[in-house]
Amino acid sequence: MPAHLTVHADAPGPVIDRHIFGHFAEHLGRCIYDGLWVGENSPVPNVRGWRSDLVAALKQIRVPNLRWPGGCFADDYHWRDGIGPREKRPRRVNAHWGGVVESNAVGTHEFLDLCEQLGCEPYLAGNVGSGSPRELRDWVEYCNAPAGTLADERAANGRREPWKVRLWGVGNETWGCGGNMTAEYYAGEYRRFATYVRDFPGAPLYRVGSGARNDDFHWTEVMMREAFKGPLGGPMLQGLSVHYYTVLGDWPPSHPATGFDHHAWKSVMAEGWKMEAIVRGHRAVMDRYDAKGLTALVVDEWGAWYAVEPGTNPGFLYQQQTIRDAVLAALTLNIFINHCERVRIANLAQIVNVLQAVALTEEGGGRLVLTPTWDVLALYAAHQGANRLGVDNDTPSGTHGGLDYPGVSATASLATDGAVNVTLCNTDPAAPAEITLALKGRLPVLAGARVLSTPVLTTCNTFDQPRAVTTRPFDGVRVHGGQVQFSLPPGSVAALHFS
Ligand code: AHR
Repeated sequence: MPAHLTVHADAPGPVIDRHIFGHFAEHLGRCIYDGLWVGENSPVPNVRGWRSDLVAALKQIRVPNLRWPGGCFADDYHWRDGIGPREKRPRRVNAHWGGVVESNAVGTHEFLDLCEQLGCEPYLAGNVGSGSPRELRDWVEYCNAPAGTLADERAANGRREPWKVRLWGVGNETWGCGGNMTAEYYAGEYRRFATYVRDFPGAPLYRVGSGARNDDFHWTEVMMREAFKGPLGGPMLQGLSVHYYTVLGDWPPSHPATGFDHHAWKSVMAEGWKMEAIVRGHRAVMDRYDAKGLTALVVDEWGAWYAVEPGTNPGFLYQQQTIRDAVLAALTLNIFINHCERVRIANLAQIVNVLQAVALTEEGGGRLVLTPTWDVLALYAAHQGANRLGVDNDTPSGTHGGLDYPGVSATASLATDGAVNVTLCNTDPAAPAEITLALKGRLPVLAGARVLSTPVLTTCNTFDQPRAVTTRPFDGVRVHGGQVQFSLPPGSVAALHFS
């Protein structure tokens, strides 16, 4: 398949918010316990309980923000359970995820320590479903107030300085596990809760309303109509979320993460590309109420959701990964980049051992493996905070089950040092794409290129072969007479860096 791409290097567009590359850590399966958290007494090297090799791997992909503690868990979580001496913390049942006992060993102090170790912003999801405005206001005060009884309690628990947590979710999936509310009912609840989720000195908040499931544009309509404008006319909603997972077939997901054929590969591309129409639709509704783009669309859960790995707890959502998921990640990140005027935060679900994770750990705290999705986040890190560049792309579409999706999807950005970074994926599992690329307004000076590809698309990274699928230098890229030419392998992701 021949394809011509022109990058408008002479016309920098809006900033690609680094928070588009955010992650999500829920008290679910082995995401927190026996994933990120091994505890201080573990033989696995750790810093105050957080697994050091994993923290190092996450720093490499420059995790910008981490959402916690859920998900559905968030609306069953009471933050006071997770502060104070660990041995005195209550043990609760994690009713959503496997009915396991939640020790509350990881609470506010531990999680915010992880964020400091990662150098990322915390994004705390508040409990609306089973909580109260008072409980949530107190959590904000406990985290952010410089003085007062809750600040004293925080200091007594080991933290004198306020954390100044900026990002707060006001409920999660309030149309479902977060309370089974209607949009109309939740819009009122949002206004009430958001009133008490207060700014403290030097800590202005960014409140994210619980948004739509998939293409429920009515939900966004109601939220923008009822909750966007605060009492003084300014927005009281800094972000509005949407969740969309790529699932094959009916719910619950029954398709395996591995061992697929080309038909199932294409299904993932077609289902994944639905994100484009979902973002476009919510954006159009938001544009009508908020032409200035004050409220962000926050895609705070996305990724592929398959059947769990055979023999694992169905409530733990543990799945393996292949390059099919890496291509899906690139396709999805390209959508967010192309809509970065409105999409300013997004969170891949979830960071480790759950759904489309960037890392998997062996049970009992053993070895660590990075997934091909980790490699995509590493390739895309160059776009964080850069200015988007338009890309003309004449590649023919792929098609499956009556749904079209891009054959080659590409995005580009201009970094502050003047470098141009181009990222692309070939969604065709069988044929390479023969690419000719030009940079409008400048001659291409290739300073580096990497490609993520594998001869066998179903190959997984395992504990025995942890880097079976990973990036390598993309040697076949040639620059001739101002044009860049290369053959993008079937089912691959690549990044080109021009100085
Ligand atoms: O990510 C797993 C679950 O998916 C989350 O807890 C919930 O918000 C969503 O339905």
